[in-house]
Amino acid sequence: MTNFIPYGKQTIDQEDIDSVVQTLQSDFLTTGPKIQEFEQSLAKYCDASYCVSVSNGTAALHLASLCLLEKNQKVLTTPNSFLATANSILYVNAKPVFIDIAKDGNIDLDLCEQELQRDSSIKALYAVSFSGNMLNQEKLQHLKETYNIKILEDNAHALGAKFDNIKAGSCANSDVSIFSFHPVKHMTTGEGGAITTNSKELYQKLLLLRGHGMIKTPNMKPWEYEMQELGFNYRITDIQCSLGLSQLKKLGGFIDKRVAIAKEYDKAFHNSIIKPLYTFDGKSSYHLYVVQVDFTKLTISKENLFIKMRKENIGLQLHYIPINKQPYYKSLGYGVEETPIMDKYYEECFSLPIYPTLTHSEQAYIISKLQEILK
Ligand SMILES: Cc1ncc(COP(=O)(O)O)c(C=O)c1O
Repeated sequence: MTNFIPYGKQTIDQEDIDSVVQTLQSDFLTTGPKIQEFEQSLAKYCDASYCVSVSNGTAALHLASLCLLEKNQKVLTTPNSFLATANSILYVNAKPVFIDIAKDGNIDLDLCEQELQRDSSIKALYAVSFSGNMLNQEKLQHLKETYNIKILEDNAHALGAKFDNIKAGSCANSDVSIFSFHPVKHMTTGEGGAITTNSKELYQKLLLLRGHGMIKTPNMKPWEYEMQELGFNYRITDIQCSLGLSQLKKLGGFIDKRVAIAKEYDKAFHNSIIKPLYTFDGKSSYHLYVVQVDFTKLTISKENLFIKMRKENIGLQLHYIPINKQPYYKSLGYGVEETPIMDKYYEECFSLPIYPTLTHSEQAYIISKLQEILK
């Protein structure tokens, strides 16, 4: 029996701790130099022109939505995400339109195109690079150019992912991209998030909205500040950014470990009833490793599998319950969309532990317990 193995967790070393301690001993715990340093490093890592860091990924989505959307506008989005993606559309009184997913768990961009052809009032697409698997950039480019829509890439799962030579967060075919630095993600700042963009105008608006919509310029009186928009306090701290800067240096190694774990799972499940959602093809940075099992062919249910694995100290997780089927969304009239692939996904899929410090023997233990219970 091993210690509990969760589906994901952070990797923190002495260098990270030292970097945070240094900031704690400095003059600035917040609104200091580490914030810009983190933003510049992240923008450079992603090949984006600008980056605004914020208190969490949900705040990033909210600020982006304030910039991209208007009241009552329709926005295509996926049911297969954490609640925050669609919620951010509701925050600004716009209207999510849920589209089915494709076999890899990402929103089906062909179905998005059909919907855009059918309904010219759709103004935007909020698409998630699910599990770390980047959205098809050729299709995104086609949709953006043909239908003149705003595109947000929710890359909370996909830091470090690449589609050909296009990096997640580079916004090559989108207006903005967002990230989350929650501890289960590729790198962490405790809580934290960021928005990248190549538009100076969007960048300036995002900065304004992050800090109460307030400006202070050199020609003002010493005590003066001016509120120009209704903004928020979505600031991240220097303490968090110093952790982020230290983590960013190790991100490449973290991703290599995740990819190695994914390849090991691919190998173990080859030609078995446990089917990887997709096998390694160099595009995913593997925030999640998702497998699919047809439980109708087995005597055990998915619920019992979760319970039995939990008794063996292994944490499985389900990413995600379809957002449109949540009670709140149903109360708004959602949940009736035709999403057969998402429905099947929800019945069959679950996520296995994957994080940089997962050891070879822990992974072998997970694989053997899973195979034993599903036999
Ligand atoms: C796809 C996706 N988008 C947005 C978020 C929100 O990020 P945060 O938890 O940092 O607010 C998450 C968090 O899990 C996520 O998985």
